[in-house]
Amino acid sequence: MARIGMLTGGGDCPGLNAVIRGVVRKGVQDGHSFFGFTYGWAGVLKSEGHELTVEETKGILPRGGTILGTSRTNPYKEENALDRVLAGMEKVGVDVLVPIGGDDTLGVASKLSEAGVNVVAVPKTIDNDLYGTDYTFGFQTAVQIATDAIDRLHTTAESHNRVIVVEVMGRHAGWIAAHAGMAGGADVILVPERPFDIDEVCDRIRRRHSLGRSFSIVVVSEGAVPKEGTMSTHGSGQTDAFGHVRLGGIAVELEREIEERTGYETRMTILGHVQRGGTPTAYDRVLATRFGVEAARAVTRGDFGTMVALRGTEIVTVPVTEALSHSKELDPAFFETAEVFFG
Ligand code: F6P
Repeated sequence: MARIGMLTGGGDCPGLNAVIRGVVRKGVQDGHSFFGFTYGWAGVLKSEGHELTVEETKGILPRGGTILGTSRTNPYKEENALDRVLAGMEKVGVDVLVPIGGDDTLGVASKLSEAGVNVVAVPKTIDNDLYGTDYTFGFQTAVQIATDAIDRLHTTAESHNRVIVVEVMGRHAGWIAAHAGMAGGADVILVPERPFDIDEVCDRIRRRHSLGRSFSIVVVSEGAVPKEGTMSTHGSGQTDAFGHVRLGGIAVELEREIEERTGYETRMTILGHVQRGGTPTAYDRVLATRFGVEAARAVTRGDFGTMVALRGTEIVTVPVTEALSHSKELDPAFFETAEVFFG
């Protein structure tokens, strides 16, 4: 019987509550008890949070966000990080951690695991760029939200004979852009894995218009970058506790460049955090529930130092270090299929 400390770290994601519900429901059946740390690693450092019971997790399956709150706190930025985490766990009697998070949260989990802490991690990111699992929950919901937005932008672009640039999330990987772009019939998709040439983008749009189409949709990942020397961009320069630059705004620069270079009226929309909000799709509820239940089973088996993962159609556990070994880039074959429909 374990006393499990659960936390959600990094950006929130539709499906986090479904994971929490899954872990608690199965964990209680297996005889475990739970403490929910609030606001990610910040809660662990301060022993802040509350008991998590089956009662408390009732009705949260379809709810977006996380009932535990989240933060981008990095405990390893503090002095004596390990001692402070251990003290935080001991104060509330926790002997196992189930952190739910992306590469930053899993990086902390992996260091703690190496130091002897019992950890079973659950991978989370709407970007779907975590290695070791085929998909992460939240991704499918983000793709659906972005696709719905692209559908709507299509009709207004068509009415006004405009080019519309839609910026979606995706810091290092173009999974959301490529999937939503394909589903929404985008004419150009720009992703971080393939630096773009603005001249080629404009040529594609011109060619499309010369063939009689009067509007175009360009989907761009927030992390997409121009080929060196082809277009100037201005980042925010702000970074978070894990050193990541705050992204967002490439669409503003593309709007200006496309309009100036082609002469076609251009508008842009940045979808931003709307992609992370609200209820998860049925697919994400199911994936998150399966992850949560498997995490509880892994604790019962004593399968520590692991992360639950989707491999094909199976839920398995893999070493948590595996998730950190690479960044999961967009599959080139997938992008080539999307390219068939470019202008
Ligand atoms: O990692 C998920 C993500 O949504 C990225 O796509 C995005 O760059 C980042 O989080 C935004 O983070 P924040 O909510 O802290 O601004």
